[in-house]
Parts: sequence; structure tokens; C-alpha cells
Amino acid sequence: MKVFVAIVFLQVCQLALGIEMPPYNVTNSTDTYEERVYPARKWVSTFQAGSDSDLFNKLFNYIDGQNDAGIKVDMTAPVTTLFVPCQGLRCATNFTMSFYVPAAHQDNPPTPTNPDVYIEDRPELHVFSRRFHGFASHNDYFDNAAQLHDDLVAAGEEGVDYDTFYAVGYDSPFVIVGRNNEVWFVKK
Ligand SMILES: *[C@@H]1O[C@H](CO)[C@@H](O)[C@H](O)[C@H]1NC(C)=O
Ligand SMILES: *[C@@H]1O[C@H](CO)[C@@H](O)[C@H](O)[C@H]1NC(C)=O
Ligand SMILES: *[C@@H]1O[C@H](CO)[C@@H](O)[C@H](O)[C@H]1NC(C)=O
Repeated sequence: MKVFVAIVFLQVCQLALGIEMPPYNVTNSTDTYEERVYPARKWVSTFQAGSDSDLFNKLFNYIDGQNDAGIKVDMTAPVTTLFVPCQGLRCATNFTMSFYVPAAHQDNPPTPTNPDVYIEDRPELHVFSRRFHGFASHNDYFDNAAQLHDDLVAAGEEGVDYDTFYAVGYDSPFVIVGRNNEVWFVKK
């Protein structure tokens, strides 16, 4: 298996679109998934139980000026949504959506004025990432998470938290072709 360690600060689409992304290192790579380490950084996040319908607008309003400094904050990519699926009957998945805080505001992000929105001190994250393309529905994220789970089990990866996963989207709704999505499982 080809093993490489790369320092990745910018990706091709980031250069093309000028959208800032969080830095990470790739620590391993297979045909179907990549292993990455994201250093500790601040994200702006909001939680909703059972649905994710209100999350994007709340975060968008934060970067559009709903913060104590009244300033606009640049949009970044990707948007991550932590899915916390329910194991039983008659309960639903919970969602926490997050935008990466741009480097210019990492040290001192403006405080959200909406009490549902908060600055998350995300610790260093070691993830297994599977990429897929097209407009992603919740089912597409669940299907890709299931596939990634099977690949990780088959590869003998241990210490992976399969109870939750990140659904990761890189593109605005206006991008029609070449859309990139990922699912991430966190290594404990
Ligand atoms: C990637 O790894 C190198 C070497 O360990 C480290 O110096 C660097 O800070 C890491 N970069 C990121 C973005 O984590
Ligand atoms: C979802 O959130 C609700 C409300 O906070 C909580 O009661 C429930 O246990 C959560 N479900 C899961 C699967 O975490
Ligand atoms: C990289 O992944 C492959 C496939 O799972 C595994 O066999 C190998 O030990 C991994 N290498 C490292 C350095 O983690």
C-alpha cells in the first residue's frame, strides 16, 4: 500500500475559487479513503435535534454580520455536519453544522449574537475520509458512511468511532458539476 505524508494547505478548488479551507495533513491513503489530521482550530457551529433545516441559515447569518462586531466574515469550505444517528425506533438523527473560522479571525472570532450559534474549539481531529460526487442527500451520506465503515473494518483499522460521522460538503448549491462531498469517521 502506498504510504505518504503530505502537508496540504491548499487544494486545487480552493485556489480556483479563492475559498479558504482548514489546513490538514494526509497521513495515509488507499483506493477508497484517506487518513488525515486536522490541527485544532475554531469553527462556528449550531445544533438541531431531528432535522438540519435551520442550521445553514443560522451560520450564514453569523458570517453575514449577526455577531458582536457586526462584521462580515468570509465564507469558507467545507461545511461539516456532525450526524448523530439514533440507534432505536421513533427517534431521529441529530445534527451539528459548522463553518470553519477563517485564519484572519481564528485568534479572536466575533461572538455570535444568536444564542443557538457558538464558537467551537475543535480539538485536533484524526479522520478517515471517503470522497464522493454529485448533489448529496442524507441517504447518500449514510450510504457512503456505511461503505467507509465496511472498508475500514476490512482494512483492520481499529479505534474508529462509528457512532457518529461528519457529512462534509465543499460546494455552494450553485455548483452543478464536479461537486465534492465526503464522509469522515473520527479515530478515537
Ligand atoms: C503537518 O505535519 C507537519 C510535520 O509533522 C507539521 O509540522 C505541520 O504543522 C502539520 N500541518 C498541519 C496542517 O497539521
Ligand atoms: C438528540 O437531541 C435530543 C435533544 O437534545 C436528545 O434528547 C437526544 O438524546 C439526542 N439523540 C441522539 C441520538 O443523540
Ligand atoms: C495505511 O493503510 C493501509 C491500508 O489500511 C495499512 O495497511 C497501512 O498499515 C497503513 N499505513 C499507515 C502508516 O498507517
